[in-house]
Amino acid sequence: MEEKSENKVNTKIFSVIETKTENLDQIYQEASNIIKQGGLVAFPTETVYGLGANGLDKKAAAKIYTAKGRPSDNPLILHIAEIKQLEKIVKQIPEDAEKLMERYWPGPLTIIFEKTDLVPYETTGGLETVAVRMPDHTAARRLIQESGVPIAAPSANTSGRPSPTSASHVAEDLFGKVDLILDGGSVGIGLESTIVDVTVMPPVILRPGYITQEMLRETLKKEIFLDTALIQGAAKDIKPKAPGMKYRHYAPKAELIIVEGLPEKTAEKIQELAAEKTAEGKRVGIIGTKELQKYYQTGLVKIIGTREQEETIAQNLYRILREFDEAQVDIIYSESFSEKNFGQAIMNRLVKAAGNKVIKLSKNLSKNKEKKN
Ligand code: TXA
Ligand code: MG
Repeated sequence: MEEKSENKVNTKIFSVIETKTENLDQIYQEASNIIKQGGLVAFPTETVYGLGANGLDKKAAAKIYTAKGRPSDNPLILHIAEIKQLEKIVKQIPEDAEKLMERYWPGPLTIIFEKTDLVPYETTGGLETVAVRMPDHTAARRLIQESGVPIAAPSANTSGRPSPTSASHVAEDLFGKVDLILDGGSVGIGLESTIVDVTVMPPVILRPGYITQEMLRETLKKEIFLDTALIQGAAKDIKPKAPGMKYRHYAPKAELIIVEGLPEKTAEKIQELAAEKTAEGKRVGIIGTKELQKYYQTGLVKIIGTREQEETIAQNLYRILREFDEAQVDIIYSESFSEKNFGQAIMNRLVKAAGNKVIKLSKNLSKNKEKKN
């Protein structure tokens, strides 16, 4: 209908990969002009792609919510390129924050501060605090610098879908809704930044990420815990302190079930379940590691990475969830991974994607004694 097509934006996509592009200056000029004029630019960061707008302009921030279909109580992260931008948007910089910034910025760490009046409530979802991050990615930094304002940017996916780790994922969700997509290729980390709240004592991790609990403990020389609402099995009435963590994010269209136990036993169980479902006429997907690949003979098998290098698992998780959507499988079984270090973030996203559906195999029982239901 006509009204609808009037609302459609003519989305441009430009590569900002240096070896592939000659007119970079022109591209960044066009991108930063869009931000200055209140438009939307999707851009790569080291974690996932962001959907950017001028974070100090309430109308621009509101456009982000519309494009993503995001609930308006879910605040945005402000991305900065230089420390002097921080002083204008936060009331104070606690000592712990200073230590974290010094050690991890630019990088995949978001810090919660008390906001100044310059930051509109449209950006913070009505909160008195603001989330800030200095990304470690040339394209992100150049876009922020040339725009001259902090850029509010949630992950550049439709609300509820897996976060985008490539420009084609962004286009899948937001083509016709954003003015420009900067294509920087596949991202390096693949999971969203760690979020730490330093407005409380002691600081709390609101979302685990590449900067791990151990790393934060070591830098701050004190205990630092995960927001209790994020711990597996937490009571349902405890609300997460990062509003976004309460939504069923990262969800694939098919039912996703995680099988947890000793690696080989897990693989045997997954193969057994996959064969059962296939016999029932279901299309089955399997998320497995290279080490256990040989166990899987049924369904659509996707190798997510290797257990020896958990980074590979993080890098491929969201892409694989999207690929399963496309393949229209009915049910997906996934191996589970160690929750140590970066594994905490990987399992946090995977369990969320599965809507908490985990089959726990008892470590002492052989597969034949495993209780079925
Ligand atoms: O890696 C990342 O952080 C990516 C890239 C683009 O930088 N961004 C990202 O943004 O993941 P988003 O909007 O998808 O996630 C932001 C999270 C949400 O869970 C939100 O609720 C939380 O940060 N958040 C933002 N401001 C907050 C605040 N003032 N207090 C508590 N949580 C906040
Ligand atoms: Mg997100």
